[in-house]
Amino acid sequence: MPERPDSAAVTDVHGRPLGQLRLSVTDRCNLRCRYCMPEQNYEWLPHDDLLRYEEIADLVSIFTEAGVRKVRLTGGEPLLRRDLERLVRLLAANTRIEDIAMTTNGILLADSARRLRDAGLGRVTVSLDTLHPERFLELTRQDLHARVLEGIRAARDAGFPPLKLDMVLIRGVNDDEILPMLDFARELGAELRFIEYMDVGGATHWSGAEVVSRQEILERVASHHGSVEPIPGQGSAPAQRFALADGSTFGIIASVTAPFCRDCDRSRLTADGQWYLCLYAARGIDLRGPLRRGARREEIARVIAAEWSARMDRGAEERRATRSRGPLIAIEALRQDPHLEMHTRGG
Ligand code: GTP
Ligand code: 5AD
Ligand code: SF4
Repeated sequence: MPERPDSAAVTDVHGRPLGQLRLSVTDRCNLRCRYCMPEQNYEWLPHDDLLRYEEIADLVSIFTEAGVRKVRLTGGEPLLRRDLERLVRLLAANTRIEDIAMTTNGILLADSARRLRDAGLGRVTVSLDTLHPERFLELTRQDLHARVLEGIRAARDAGFPPLKLDMVLIRGVNDDEILPMLDFARELGAELRFIEYMDVGGATHWSGAEVVSRQEILERVASHHGSVEPIPGQGSAPAQRFALADGSTFGIIASVTAPFCRDCDRSRLTADGQWYLCLYAARGIDLRGPLRRGARREEIARVIAAEWSARMDRGAEERRATRSRGPLIAIEALRQDPHLEMHTRGG
């Protein structure tokens, strides 16, 4: 079960506390990953709607009074937002926050890793789906593989605790790299997490046949490494962790075949201040409106507590129960409301 942060924490209908908040600081991205942004054109959030850093920090401060202890910066690509270290500094000044992390594609990390570390960023996760530059180009439409590797090395050298590497597996695209990526991560001293390709909004080319399941990943790792031992005691983290005989570890995020909704203590705030209680939620709760109208803190706190107490979402579990799965949301609907996109919600 999820950790209980403290007695002030609000819990939802299933007893899940409000523990982690994912902050998408921009919907823009400098890559076009085929599992996330495969289309040619996108609708962007209006610039004036984007929360300023002070506004984000104010909202986060209210969230931390409701129990949030872990904050993760996401995007789009979070490093596209200028002076991100300024936001990190504002968040680091909030003593209730125990963990400030960031998920990035790594392109701009080489320049910013040390500044972010100095500002108080605690942990970094980099998305890396392949070790082959030409495959990276096919997957992301940008010839920037070397920049990502530089970013990864810079983050390691900036003194962050061991990095995590997120790899979305797609059958026939990069699933021949399960073992090489494990070697790469071990040599780097990073923890690799294999992610099942999810039918989230934005994954408009998704098909069940392309999903490489946790079961299959484990079988393929075991066929080479022999014993693969599950590591117990994982709290609310989405990844189940495993250890190999040589002592190295890796994770699997099995959101398609074994969702972790039961333990999910996370929600997400978009760059324009819409609060989503589930990755799969059809609608968000507008927090920008009240904030900009000058609503008192207690008023916003009441909205947060009321919405979380009524939360029933088990989005990934419901998807698993769906027969004949295809892409979650039609392109026309995504064009009408970019909030339905994974890159707007922050993964
Ligand atoms: P830590 O475990 O704290 O290091 O972070 P994390 O794993 O939550 O962060 P990260 O951004 O690396 O998330 C990894 C991936 O897990 C995401 O990109 C998604 O594919 C998936 N994921 C994250 N949050 C959710 C969620 O709420 N529901 C589901 N089903 N999948 C999620
Ligand atoms: N399936 C799984 N993960 C996804 N992400 C984006 N789209 C998908 C998808 N369809 C996640 C990846 C990526 C992060 C930014 O968002 O983990 O590394
Ligand atoms: Fe790729 Fe992340 Fe950008 Fe989506 S938001 S296109 S997953 S780098």
